[in-house]
Amino acid sequence: MLSYKDGYVSDITYTKGYYEALNPLKAKLVFLQQGQKFPEVTNACELGFGQGVSVNFHAAGSQTNWFGTDFLEEHASYAKTLGVASIARLKLFDESLEAFCERADLPDFDFIGLHGVWSWISSKNRSLIVRFLQKKLKPGGVLYVSYNALPGSGRKSAIRDLLTLFSKDQGSKSGPDEGILRAFQQTSKLLNLSPRYQKSNPSVIKLVKKLEGDSARYLAHEFLNENHDAMNFTEIAGLLNDAKMRFVGEANCCRNIRSLNLTKDQRIALRDVDDSVLRETMTDYLLNTEFRRDYWVKDDGSSEKGFDAAALEQTRVMNTSQKPTLPSHIRTNIGRVKLNTEIYSRLIESLSCYQTKSIAEVETELSGANISVGRTRQALAVLSDLNQVALVQNDAQAFASYAQTQRLNRYILLEDPSLAERNILVSPVSGGGIRLTRLQMLFLREALVQGYDPDQWKLTEAQTRDLLRTNLGKVSVTQRLTQEQFLDRAKTFFGDQGAFLDALKLV
Ligand SMILES: C[S@@+](CC[C@H](N)C(=O)[O-])C[C@H]1O[C@@H](n2cnc3c(N)ncnc32)[C@H](O)[C@@H]1O
Repeated sequence: MLSYKDGYVSDITYTKGYYEALNPLKAKLVFLQQGQKFPEVTNACELGFGQGVSVNFHAAGSQTNWFGTDFLEEHASYAKTLGVASIARLKLFDESLEAFCERADLPDFDFIGLHGVWSWISSKNRSLIVRFLQKKLKPGGVLYVSYNALPGSGRKSAIRDLLTLFSKDQGSKSGPDEGILRAFQQTSKLLNLSPRYQKSNPSVIKLVKKLEGDSARYLAHEFLNENHDAMNFTEIAGLLNDAKMRFVGEANCCRNIRSLNLTKDQRIALRDVDDSVLRETMTDYLLNTEFRRDYWVKDDGSSEKGFDAAALEQTRVMNTSQKPTLPSHIRTNIGRVKLNTEIYSRLIESLSCYQTKSIAEVETELSGANISVGRTRQALAVLSDLNQVALVQNDAQAFASYAQTQRLNRYILLEDPSLAERNILVSPVSGGGIRLTRLQMLFLREALVQGYDPDQWKLTEAQTRDLLRTNLGKVSVTQRLTQEQFLDRAKTFFGDQGAFLDALKLV
């Protein structure tokens, strides 16, 4: 039998995920894309931070004062361990939303984020968050919130009842993890016995297939809380209206570009719709949206819109990929969409050799090739979704954050295999996580221990065995490397990707 705290599953900890949408610099890029001004972020807050990977990365990677809470003690305690490792500017609590939102010692915030929380808490707690936004988010401040959206996530609700019932039926017959996995198997088996259900609900069957192999952790936190409230955009907009929040855009930048996501007929249907709530709700039906990740801004009463000239000068961008590739197509809701390679090749060229450039500079350069500001911004947004570019901090902020990220990355590589296996480190330049491969993480770990010249590395037999085993992960045996191959690849990595490592300052 699972235990609950205020309706939330409390005896299985959540996965250690990193979510870049919680990085204020990602939010800033979406605001740029959508022509909205963005505030200076001094104080930021994450509610329900889970294991706290995102809040720790963003605190270590910046000079922002981060605050946050998660009421599961194991979560908060792990998150605090990462904070102790980085010695960043962050204050984490293990309090309920109710207790945290009432604290008298919190500053006013420029950015408040919550990922994977809104749909899984009670309506009383959602009201608490709205009051917190009224009280503690500054006018002009930014909210990031993700949630299960309608109509797409209706299929999740369809299996949730069965999963919950089977899970309750397990009672004390098995431990929590095993009980959940059994409940899932029972659900799947039952649906397999019903050709009629399968015929009428193909998307539910597809979902069950997709969930096969998912961890008990994910299944418990996604499906087995007392609340699992999917929402129409219009409903969340209504709730957030009480805190004067106005919708800006989706964290998935490509979703904000209609030509990439909608067919011609769909675009025509939306063409004359001015009301953003109606437009977003219609879009959710057109795309059958299942999950939304949205940015909102608190109305500050000003009519000023967009980035002014000074902000365009100060906002800087950089290539963050190891091997920038020219995307010719992108896969979206309507399939494979062709991109204008002329624009992307100019942009990639402009950002070559890991130079950081201001948005003003990039826009001027591309306008020389008759590429409009709007098109340049859309291309930047698309490349950001492809993890090829990111907004970066100014040099002083990056420099001041370097010691923090070094300490955290070192801790991850040398002392926290459970987080190292997520293959992500934090950069003081982009202020957020950078995804690497498993092998690259192992090279960096070895470099911290034995230096940057693989020729000098002495790998003991035990180490080699470990490296080979970890390298296997979930992938097939054919991926196994000999020690010689491992060292060869390490040399290539430090040689070819040296500029990437220098630019992003990962170690
Ligand atoms: C699905 S998890 C998401 C965690 C994290 N944001 C992430 O995406 O990895 C939801 C989190 O909200 C926390 N939570 C739920 N209800 C809460 C409450 N009333 N007060 C504080 N934290 C709460 C849970 O402990 C859990 O860590």
